[in-house]
Amino acid sequence: MTANRRIVVTAVQAMELREEPVPTPAPGEVRVRSTYIGVCGSDTHAFHGRHPFIPIPYLPGHEATGVVAELGEGVTNVAIGDRIVVEPTLPCWHCKPCRNGQENLCENLQFFGCGYPQGGMADQFVVRADRLHVIPDDVSDLDAALIEPLATPVHAGRIAGPLQGRTVAVLGAGTIGLLMLAVARWSGAAKVVVTDPLPAKREAALRLGADAVVDATAPDVAAQIRSTLGESADVVFDCVAVHGTTLAAIDAVLKGGTVVIVGVPSADFELPMRIIQDQQVRIQGSATYVPQDYATSIEMIQARAVRAEDFITGQFPLDQAEQAFAASTSGEHIKVVIHP
Ligand SMILES: NC(=O)c1ccc[n+]([C@@H]2O[C@H](COP(=O)([O-])OP(=O)(O)OC[C@H]3O[C@@H](n4cnc5c(N)ncnc54)[C@H](O)[C@@H]3O)[C@@H](O)[C@H]2O)c1
Ligand SMILES: [Zn+2]
Ligand SMILES: [Zn+2]
Repeated sequence: MTANRRIVVTAVQAMELREEPVPTPAPGEVRVRSTYIGVCGSDTHAFHGRHPFIPIPYLPGHEATGVVAELGEGVTNVAIGDRIVVEPTLPCWHCKPCRNGQENLCENLQFFGCGYPQGGMADQFVVRADRLHVIPDDVSDLDAALIEPLATPVHAGRIAGPLQGRTVAVLGAGTIGLLMLAVARWSGAAKVVVTDPLPAKREAALRLGADAVVDATAPDVAAQIRSTLGESADVVFDCVAVHGTTLAAIDAVLKGGTVVIVGVPSADFELPMRIIQDQQVRIQGSATYVPQDYATSIEMIQARAVRAEDFITGQFPLDQAEQAFAASTSGEHIKVVIHP
């Protein structure tokens, strides 16, 4: 193959399939032949000009898996032919969070496929070799496409504190919320209730192991969560993070519980500070993952706690990326992937 095809988002709601020379890996980088590239909420938000930190034009594709095809100078951690999944955070390794093993919080963080000059939605791409995890032999290519999306809820669940025996609510049954449900189950939560306005999403949550679901359009979601759980929630994972969901989350954990903000809020909003103080509510942000979370994500997939057949509901070729983005926002899919 002499030319490489790549998706470029050129303007709000406009993308093109561009031909470019096959990229050459710089020292410390590898060239990867893509296998499956997931379409994520941040891709579609950026495509619609609604992502706070991704300027257009941009090269999408951070949920990238593939096979190593060429090694740049000095690369020893992977070999040609290795199946890999990208951990798309690009830390500087020098700042305080990087030195403390919190490279997801790097003060100079860049993000592969999210406003960075490289992205994975292409036949082939180059990426820093230190961002690769080798996919174990017992994980299929399609299952491996879930490693990155699952790592986000794994991280959120880990920093929420132990979930064993706890009552949990997950607000929003999109890809992240349904994977969050899987993490809560994997972590031994006693009871998990999931909310969503869409009946199909609530059905998916029940099918995937929720004890109960609540219609998010109901007038008092928090009260319904509490009555379903039989008590307040110990932990609420807000996988939507709009004003109404975060207020409901705070209401559902009273008193003394933890609200984890997993969704990316598209705007700032006011919170009931007097209640947060007086009722000792912990508001915990959660940002992506670190390698430990990738390891747990891989372990969950190996144990079949998360399976491609349950989560990957759409597959599109690279030249139908626009249809893939549309499917991803239609509300009819859990996870859509592109396979060049
Ligand atoms: N923290 C992180 O590192 C991280 C990583 C990836 C994605 N995210 C964010 O997580 C969020 C969820 O991502 P996703 O891919 O699952 O998106 P998605 O669009 O697939 O899912 C969102 C779900 O929320 C539902 N919803 C909408 N309003 C609701 C409400 N008021 N109450 C309950 N449910 C409601 C929708 O019907 C949908 O099912 C997004 O904001 C995304 O940007 C965060
Ligand atoms: Zn993503
Ligand atoms: Zn750093």
